[in-house]
Amino acid sequence: MNEKKDKTDLLDMNRLPEHVAIIMDGNGRWARRRAMMRSEGHAEGVNSVNRITRLSSDLGIRYLTLYAFSTENWKRPQAEVDALMHLIGWTIRKETPDLVKNNVKIHLLGEIDRLPESVREDLEAGRQATAHCTGLNLMICLSYSSRWELTNATRRIAKKVKAGELSPDNITEDTIASELSTSGIPDPDLLIRTGGEHRISNFLLWQCAYSELYFTPVLWPDFDNDAFVDALLDYQNRERRFGMTSDQVSVAHHNDEPGNDSTPVNNN
Ligand code: FPP
Repeated sequence: MNEKKDKTDLLDMNRLPEHVAIIMDGNGRWARRRAMMRSEGHAEGVNSVNRITRLSSDLGIRYLTLYAFSTENWKRPQAEVDALMHLIGWTIRKETPDLVKNNVKIHLLGEIDRLPESVREDLEAGRQATAHCTGLNLMICLSYSSRWELTNATRRIAKKVKAGELSPDNITEDTIASELSTSGIPDPDLLIRTGGEHRISNFLLWQCAYSELYFTPVLWPDFDNDAFVDALLDYQNRERRFGMTSDQVSVAHHNDEPGNDSTPVNNN
């Protein structure tokens, strides 16, 4: 008899994060520990990508953002960059039919123009094939960095000011958010980093202002469904205060319950 209970049963399905972002770290160390090449660690990491995408979709999570290749990753040895690019294109080509079947929509974030043409074609084909999907939004960050994104946003806003389309006094947080590649997408509720480092590494700096951070020593290729559920359970044990007091948060939750007045809390 199979005694192993599915850990997902422990989750409160009404309190899942709407948006989970992941810094997938530890592929190289996973490979080194097995005397394998780093690229083999990345290939194994793709299995985790598939697994976590599938589980996120099954759980009904709305957005999953994966840091697949950072702007800084271009500095890696050319052979590793080439292997990663090849792997990314191949994965998208191979997985697109399953993504369509599971109603998963691909979004691409970052300087996609910097990627090799064949990879861009694979990505664009995947994006178009899943454009009609309405389930999980899978956001793949490639040649992405938050400082690059914020610099771009600033440049676009400056051009609008120069053209007289926008007054500096009317620049708000919404103005900036609307110029980011995540425009229109809710901020991550939960940011997970695997591989034991405690850094954000230039990832979604603006968007993660209020995200819950979860760091795990588990290397990305070993990040299985149970490890993901552990992160979600940890998230569900946190109290998200957004600068309010604990009492205010309790009142706000109480007012959100059906049948209760939603008297606004004083959020100063
Ligand atoms: C970090 O591990 C991981 C990466 C730089 C690449 C992650 C990319 C994938 C798993 C492929 C994703 C593909 C798609 C289509 C989303 P590391 O090499 O920095 O590990 P280390 O810190 O142990 O050296």
